[in-house]
Amino acid sequence: MRRLALTLLLMAALFLCGCSAGQDPPGATPANALLLGFSQLGSESAWRLGSTRSIEEAAQRHGVDLMLENANQRQEKQIDAIRSFIAYRVDVIAFSPIVEEGWDNVLTEAKSAGIPVILVDRLIDTQDESLYAAYIGADFYQEGVNAGEYLLRKADELGAESLAIAEITGTVDSTPMRQRQLGFHDTLAGDGRFHVLESVSGDFLRTKGKECMEYLLEKYGDEIDVLYVHNDAMTLGALEVLEGAGLRAGEEVVVISVDGEQAAIDLLIEGKINCVVECTPELGDMVMEVARKLANGEPVDKVTHPVEEVFTEYDDLSNLAPRGY
Ligand code: AHR
Repeated sequence: MRRLALTLLLMAALFLCGCSAGQDPPGATPANALLLGFSQLGSESAWRLGSTRSIEEAAQRHGVDLMLENANQRQEKQIDAIRSFIAYRVDVIAFSPIVEEGWDNVLTEAKSAGIPVILVDRLIDTQDESLYAAYIGADFYQEGVNAGEYLLRKADELGAESLAIAEITGTVDSTPMRQRQLGFHDTLAGDGRFHVLESVSGDFLRTKGKECMEYLLEKYGDEIDVLYVHNDAMTLGALEVLEGAGLRAGEEVVVISVDGEQAAIDLLIEGKINCVVECTPELGDMVMEVARKLANGEPVDKVTHPVEEVFTEYDDLSNLAPRGY
């Protein structure tokens, strides 16, 4: 009887402390704690905000302690953030590199400190692939191919003999800018119906997308048959200009965009955009899983691409789930 009373007392004490067998007491560092330093490149688009949210929410779900730094579009700030993560001796470093070049020195420092690095969303250009353990992000070349393949179908449907393309690209020297351009141009190469009037960079920003469209419209006027824009934020800016000039986007100008933000999908359904190539910002869970494996010394895949779709004017989008970004 006394033994039963003692057991009940102990169980009540554990319940009141919020402790249970196998859990750590409050204030203690859990045995499986993982500290991840993540350098986000900026907040240039709804896509990027979705990316930050995805990382933050996944860190919570996976019990990962997150040190998050936002570089506001500046590579120097990303390099400083990575150096601070090294000084802090985080378990794993992850970052979304704003451009591809210029990372070797700081990543060599991370390697010397024995801290594995995950590239999230964008790649780097390096001779030494051992400077990062894994890349988790889109196949941007395939996204460009997807955009080109839609245009081939559209040109066939229109019976077009000649289509002039204006292109608004993302941040110069970034992976999505380079690969979305290459995939698109490679897909149309050799087909005499297409020629590119000009490619200008809008830096993935809505304001600059608007400026680029003003420039293109002033220079080429109604010569422009097709507008290929490397992200939805810039497309939204460009559409303001097209509509302001009295041009019917989606009809007089075929509009192809990339990302799949809710705002762009809504415009696709309205008929003002013809094709949206998906690029998902929902990478958080994959990043946490790979970070955990790296911290445990387990092998990981060098490259992981999320599954991505293409949404076009030919699809029934009435049942498409809310995009969340
Ligand atoms: O790197 C992904 C790209 O970056 C997204 O397409 C864009 O919206 C963001 O700026």
